[in-house]
Amino acid sequence: MAKIRLGVNIDHVATVRNARGEDYPSPLRAALFSQKNGADSVTIHLREDRRHINESDLKEIISALRIPLNLEIAATKEMMKIALKTKPPFICIVPEKRQEITTEGGLNIKYNLKFLEENLPNLFKNNIEVSLFLDPEIDNINSSIELGVNAIEFHTGEIANASGPKEKALINKFEAVIEYAVAKNISVRAGHGLNYDKTKKIINFKNLEELNIGHFIIGESIFYGLSDVVKKMKKIIG
Ligand code: PXP
Repeated sequence: MAKIRLGVNIDHVATVRNARGEDYPSPLRAALFSQKNGADSVTIHLREDRRHINESDLKEIISALRIPLNLEIAATKEMMKIALKTKPPFICIVPEKRQEITTEGGLNIKYNLKFLEENLPNLFKNNIEVSLFLDPEIDNINSSIELGVNAIEFHTGEIANASGPKEKALINKFEAVIEYAVAKNISVRAGHGLNYDKTKKIINFKNLEELNIGHFIIGESIFYGLSDVVKKMKKIIG
C-alpha cells in the first residue's frame, strides 16, 4: 500500500504567538521541526484577516523549507496576487467566512465558478499544483474536472464530529467518493478535525494520498512536544 503523506498545518503556532503580540512561538521554527520529524509537507492558511499566519511568515517559511509548502488561500484577487508572487508548489483554495472560527465546510464551486475559471489558469501556467477544499460529494468531483483541477482535498469535518452509525455511514460514503475521484485521475487528499483515533479510521483507503492535520497536532504538542507528535502521527498514517 502506498504511504499516505502527512501535511502538518502550523497555523495555530501563529495563533498562540499573536495572542500576545510577541514574535514567539515561531511558525518558521514549527515548520522546520515538522520537516525534521517526518512531515511530508507544511500547510499554512493566509487568512484575509491575518488572524494567524501573515505575509512575513509566508516569506520566511517558503524560503527556508525543503519539503513542499501548501498555501491555503480564499478565492479572492488579493490572495491570487500573493500566490502568483510567492509561487508556492501547492495551493489549496478554501472557503473563508470572516466570522467563522475555522473552515467550516468545503468550497462552494458554483458560487465561485467565475472566479475559479478566470484565475486557475494563471496558477496552472506557473506550475503551481492546485487543489480545492471540498465536501466529499460526487458533484464536486465533476465540477473540479471541468475546471481542469487534478487534486482535491476533502473536508473531513463532518466525519470528525460524528460517532456510531452516522460516522460509519459517512466513512463509507467517503470511501466511495475517493474511489470515484481516483477513477477520474484526481489526486485525493483530506483533512480537518483529525486526531489520532479519527485518522486511524480513514487511513486504510488505499487511494488517499495525503492528510493535512493542524489543530490536534499543535494542541497535543503542548503536552508531548511537536517532534514527538509529528513522529507519532506519521507512524500512524505511514
Ligand atoms: N485542510 C484544510 C484545507 C484546512 O483549511 C485545514 C484547517 O482548517 C486543515 C486541513 C486542518 O484542519 P485541522 O486544523 O482541524 O486539523
